[in-house]
Amino acid sequence: MPTFGAYRAWALLAATLVALPAAGTAAAQGAPPPGAEGCAGCHPPAPMAGAPPPLRTVPPEDIAAAMLAFRGGARPATVMDRIAKGFTDEEIRAIAAWAGRRP
Ligand code: HEC
Repeated sequence: MPTFGAYRAWALLAATLVALPAAGTAAAQGAPPPGAEGCAGCHPPAPMAGAPPPLRTVPPEDIAAAMLAFRGGARPATVMDRIAKGFTDEEIRAIAAWAGRRP
């Protein structure tokens, strides 16, 4: 009879073995870059009164330009200036490419 501890170790190992290839597949299919999933907390998947625009409707280059303008203070914002400050140029580009309008 395995002890509970041994069972847990096996369960963890099994979970890791299952998760690893799955993570690789998700990345190949376009897993969200760090920070990108948080955008959906405020930006809805479809247009909604009173909400910021769905990022799917905005071309990636416009998202990146807006984020840089928010970050630099060139574009006034209530929250996006603070959010944009949390990302590097590279992260912004990755998020914009992932979250923005697809061709
Ligand atoms: C806390 C809510 C919130 C989160 C989270 C959020 N946004 Fe926003 N976003 C807004 C609001 C509100 C505006 C309107 C500008 C403002 O008042 O700051 C906006 C505006 C924008 C705009 C300009 C849209 C346009 O064309 O008018 C872009 C681009 C954008 N957000 C991108 C992002 C990205 C990318 C993320 C994730 C990294 C994100 N937002 C996360 C609330 C949010």
